[in-house]
Amino acid sequence: MRRLICAGNWKMHKTAHEAADFVKAFLPLAAAVPFATEIVLCPPFTALAAVSQLLTTDRVQLGAQDVHWERSGAFTGEISGPMLSDLGVQYVIVGHSERREYFGDTDAIVRLKTAAVLENGLTPIVAVGETLSIRDAGNTSAHVIAQTRAALEGLSSSQLARIVLAYEPVWAIGTGRNCDPAEANTVMSEIRSCVPGLHDVPILYGGSVKAENIAAYTAQPEIDGGLVGGASLDPAVFAQLCIAADT
Ligand code: PGA
Repeated sequence: MRRLICAGNWKMHKTAHEAADFVKAFLPLAAAVPFATEIVLCPPFTALAAVSQLLTTDRVQLGAQDVHWERSGAFTGEISGPMLSDLGVQYVIVGHSERREYFGDTDAIVRLKTAAVLENGLTPIVAVGETLSIRDAGNTSAHVIAQTRAALEGLSSSQLARIVLAYEPVWAIGTGRNCDPAEANTVMSEIRSCVPGLHDVPILYGGSVKAENIAAYTAQPEIDGGLVGGASLDPAVFAQLCIAADT
């Protein structure tokens, strides 16, 4: 059985102090989340150390929002895999649509980053998803399949077994307009079968996930949790969502 994961992507929100306050409030609430549900927090780089220090049990895992593919070098402003693992990071989001749209992360770059995350012993959460114009043109499947194949190209079967995927329709992110769960399930089954070896890989849905709608997603056979933006910023709200994921 695939594991159920609720991952909070805080994007560019919270200072290190604010992040620490979140964790202090969240940990007691996380005790009520069913144990089989894995919880991941992905703060900004500047808050990773503060959050890591507070996560003294495995109950909540630490994730980063991006990474550079080289281990070190003259790449001003960038953060490498070894720097993240040194801080206790276990997961790294790669290919988020905001990175693709605003920071030039092409499919080729997403592939380099995915491989680098795995080579550093970390777990990539590889995000794919279509824009509204691609969807309206009827090209959702072709687009997400191409993104998935490009991101995973060249990975060994043992590396593929260690990844997590996220399907995030771009038009659903931060808009309150979430994708119909059955439709998301259909796209995810296409993603799962477009590369051999993804049968046991968790695929998360992302895009306006809330405590009120997460269970409708996780009830679908192909959906193994949520990648959550806005609803992960408040400790009580995110704890409620993590609890609701397993109902
Ligand atoms: P949202 O963001 O939950 O605020 O829609 C999801 C994401 O971008 O990962």
